[in-house]
Amino acid sequence: MSVLSKVFLNEPRGEMVTFKKGFSIRLVILFTALTVVLTASVILVWEQVLKPPYYHWIERNYPGAANAQNRDRIEQRSEHFFISMTVDVIVVSILLAIVDRKQKRLVEANQRLAHNEKVATLGRVAAQVAHEVRNPLTGLLLYSEHLKGKIDGKLPNGDAVLIDKIIDTINNLTATTEQILNFARPVTLAPRKVDLNEVARDVIQLLRTEIAAHSVEAKLELADAPVVGMLDEPSIRATTLNLVLNAVQTMPAGGHLTISTSASDDKLLLAIRDTGSGMTPDQVKRIFEPFATTKSRGLGLGMPYAQKIIQEHGGQIIVESQPKKGTEVRIELPVTERS
Ligand SMILES: Nc1ncnc2c1ncn2[C@@H]1O[C@H](COP(=O)(O)OP(=O)(O)O)[C@@H](O)[C@H]1O
Ligand SMILES: [Mg+2]
Repeated sequence: MSVLSKVFLNEPRGEMVTFKKGFSIRLVILFTALTVVLTASVILVWEQVLKPPYYHWIERNYPGAANAQNRDRIEQRSEHFFISMTVDVIVVSILLAIVDRKQKRLVEANQRLAHNEKVATLGRVAAQVAHEVRNPLTGLLLYSEHLKGKIDGKLPNGDAVLIDKIIDTINNLTATTEQILNFARPVTLAPRKVDLNEVARDVIQLLRTEIAAHSVEAKLELADAPVVGMLDEPSIRATTLNLVLNAVQTMPAGGHLTISTSASDDKLLLAIRDTGSGMTPDQVKRIFEPFATTKSRGLGLGMPYAQKIIQEHGGQIIVESQPKKGTEVRIELPVTERS
């Protein structure tokens, strides 16, 4: 199996199949209520329906004072029988409920495994296609630029634009294949001192055209002192860019974007807040799944890439969102060495 496929087969941590241990308090309450109802019903049926004719039958078959002891014994035996029946019914129903619960969890786990396997296959195919396409694309770009240089000024304006469009399209395709390959490649971090304040400022600067095009108001709430950690600069920059781009893209009709940074004794924090479309809890759950996108031209690799990079740094990425209100994505990184 190639390195690419192995990377895709590594499930993101959030998606791992886990079995919950311990008691569910709701289930305990349900069982208690069920036991009380069941016991009450059995006693009621016994006392009101079955006992009178049964005792009447005993009176008829064992009449008189001489049979008093026999009658007592038979009555006692039947009551014991009823009590043990009640206990049996309760125990069996609890066991059935436990088996049913385990069965449901097993079905869920199987569904998740099948889904992860599908995503992994999709990833393998995408990575292989991206790999095959990358070299021809580089060739195409070179030929197109060469052609552009040769015919520069010799074509009417309208036709010259076509060559630029070809070059733009090739560049877009190259960026897409790079994104797929970046995600598929194993990460090798080269940590050095990086200031998150600087990263935040640079990303806002880099995306200024997109920010202006979306009429987004960007604000930096940076810590006074540099927020420095031993980080792999290219991947942290790429991750922050992906997250800020997502925030901008979710506010097509304008809104507020805030990037904040802070540092505590053991943690560095970078948070990106937007007032965009937000997400439902279900969407948030699937946000780190590769290829899960709601955008017509999206790839769905920005968030899983971000998660992979932050986890490789020993940090975590937390997403909080409310539909129609906005989203906050927080990156928490461990402090490995203070400046
Ligand atoms: N800030 C955000 N606000 C709302 N939705 C978001 C935000 N960030 C990510 N998403 C959702 O998560 C999906 C996956 O994001 P991502 O992995 O970056 O892929 P892409 O941007 O290519 O769609 C997006 O399509 C979008 O639905
Ligand atoms: Mg994205």
